[in-house]
Amino acid sequence: MSPQLDEPDAKEILVASDAATRALSAAPVDTDFVARVYEKISSVYDLFYGPTLHAGRLESIGRLGIRAGDRVLEVGVGTGINAALYPRDCNVTGIDLCSSMLEKAERRIAGHRLTNVRLLQMDAEELTFPDDSFDVVYAPYTISVVSDPVKAVHEMRRVCRPGGRFVFLNHFLSSNKLISRAERFIAPLTVHVGFKADLDLPAFLVQAGLDPVSIEKVNIPRIWSLVTCSKDA
Ligand SMILES: C[S@@+](CC[C@H](N)C(=O)[O-])C[C@H]1O[C@@H](n2cnc3c(N)ncnc32)[C@H](O)[C@@H]1O
Repeated sequence: MSPQLDEPDAKEILVASDAATRALSAAPVDTDFVARVYEKISSVYDLFYGPTLHAGRLESIGRLGIRAGDRVLEVGVGTGINAALYPRDCNVTGIDLCSSMLEKAERRIAGHRLTNVRLLQMDAEELTFPDDSFDVVYAPYTISVVSDPVKAVHEMRRVCRPGGRFVFLNHFLSSNKLISRAERFIAPLTVHVGFKADLDLPAFLVQAGLDPVSIEKVNIPRIWSLVTCSKDA
């Protein structure tokens, strides 16, 4: 299926010849490094990544097509900033690597008196759920954070039921040459504040074997993408 693409030149990039082999980022990190960074920034996460990324969260949640009774998995639930945005009649499981982020999420969920959200400490790259456990698997602002995005998205697809959707919301390397050069340059610095600025979407899609149903620009400015994939029924 050909994805619906917002960017006019994205199709051309999708077929770029070395997408199957090139590095996904100039700043590879391991999972222990990511865990340490998030333990450090958990107290200021909401301040820096709360309002700035919230338009994208609001826009995206409405596009997930969640129905009453759906089992939803949020990968990288962080401080639980999305928790109150999910419809109350779906069942949400939020997983995260980092205990101090999860502690904040626990408090937020209690504050909102949410009874449809449970939290678990788990590595996105080694989910402990059985295959086909969820109707919707959603990774908001997480795929450029994990150490191995291909492994994480394979796990997202595995735990998604046939016919369900797995979706990621993220900023990716710009298709503009000048901007992408700057993003690659700063990526070794941005990993210290929790993300890779230069995750290469076309290479990621090819290397993960993904054929998204849609890629839509969200947030303000519109430099974040909501990538929706469906698992074959
Ligand atoms: C940028 S935050 C996103 C939080 C939330 N989804 C939001 O919308 O603000 C990324 C989260 O992914 C978590 N994370 C990073 N690597 C992970 C992994 N391998 N498994 C599970 N969570 C991970 C981090 O601890 C962090 O809480």
